[in-house]
Amino acid sequence: PESITVQELANRMAEKGADLVKALFKMGTAVTLNQPIDQDTAELLVEEFGHRIQRVSDADVEIGMEGEVDAPETLKARPPVVTIMGHVDHGKTSLLDALRGTNVVSGESGGITQHIGAYQVKTKGGDTITFLDTPGHEAFSEMRARGANVTDIVILVVAADDGLMPQTIEAINHTKAAGVPMIVAINKVDKPEANPQRIRERLLEHEIVVEDMGGETQDVEVSALKRTGLDDLLDKIMLQAELLELTANPDRAAEGNVVEAQLDKGRGAVATVLVRKGTLKIGDTFVIGSESGKVRAMINDKGQNVKTAGPSTPVEVLGLSGVPMAGDQLTVVENEARAREVAAYRQEQATKKRTTAAPTSFEHMFSALN
Ligand code: GTP
Ligand code: MG
Repeated sequence: PESITVQELANRMAEKGADLVKALFKMGTAVTLNQPIDQDTAELLVEEFGHRIQRVSDADVEIGMEGEVDAPETLKARPPVVTIMGHVDHGKTSLLDALRGTNVVSGESGGITQHIGAYQVKTKGGDTITFLDTPGHEAFSEMRARGANVTDIVILVVAADDGLMPQTIEAINHTKAAGVPMIVAINKVDKPEANPQRIRERLLEHEIVVEDMGGETQDVEVSALKRTGLDDLLDKIMLQAELLELTANPDRAAEGNVVEAQLDKGRGAVATVLVRKGTLKIGDTFVIGSESGKVRAMINDKGQNVKTAGPSTPVEVLGLSGVPMAGDQLTVVENEARAREVAAYRQEQATKKRTTAAPTSFEHMFSALN
């Protein structure tokens, strides 16, 4: 009773066995259809596929608030969510600035990104791309690990004059663990001492083989400073995105993840949420981590008030009961009573988790994988 085979679980979930095997492989577990998996793994899978878990022993407790799986005909194309990773000072924020045509770097204290910014960029072809900028500081690696779980594509920024550094390698490992495709942006190619070829060679040591060297990883030479190579980078992102066939159902109760959150003087608890599916609307009642709330206002990445936010859209949400944590899940629920119930349940679960073993960042990462 403590274990179940992949095929049995697939039958109960009315999913294809092969899809479960694939999902397990992404989680780092290689199993065949007839192999048994333990209960924790089974629960993760069930959640991953958006089903509810009914515990026989604990029948009135539902883990996860995800509704039924979205029927294929409800799915519509959504923008890719791209996370920019790389070593400190290799130019992540500058690159994002250049892509947005703004200047965030000069407004940062000491030029070190202290939070994850989320922005949308429109390409010349009219496509929208959602970008997450991650902090480069060593101390934020945990947050960065969480940042990968909502990500479709990772841009690995490597400064051509500096090469592969500890956090570059860390980012490579996070990306591999998350099973997310990577595009390498070789930055600062304007510098006289830049040596892009050396970077391509060094990447081989980490089993990243760029197209030029016969591999499958796309790479592009850019200069965030001189603004060169940017259209090429955007093209490559869209090429990768098309291969991924990214979709979501926009016409359902919203689900999303906290990208960053803080207590704001005057505005109270504020969270930047990346909507994954559904459409978040003013007035929606939600649970966010172990907090709850009602959407009082939403502000987009351009600082404008918006009434709705669909899949892959980052928005600042006002109206929270408290400050959630980065990576926490937002789920829209029917009413406030239900919100309080779920929030209390999650709080209880969080306490339980803290008193048992601390999860590794890898676990964090795939526990929220969609
Ligand atoms: P953290 O957020 O601290 O990890 O840094 P970051 O990766 O966001 O780097 P940031 O964009 O702050 O850039 C670091 C420094 O490199 C700044 O002084 C930039 O002006 C400089 N820089 C960024 N891109 C380029 C480039 O393409 N060429 C040159 N020459 N300098 C660049
Ligand atoms: Mg930065």
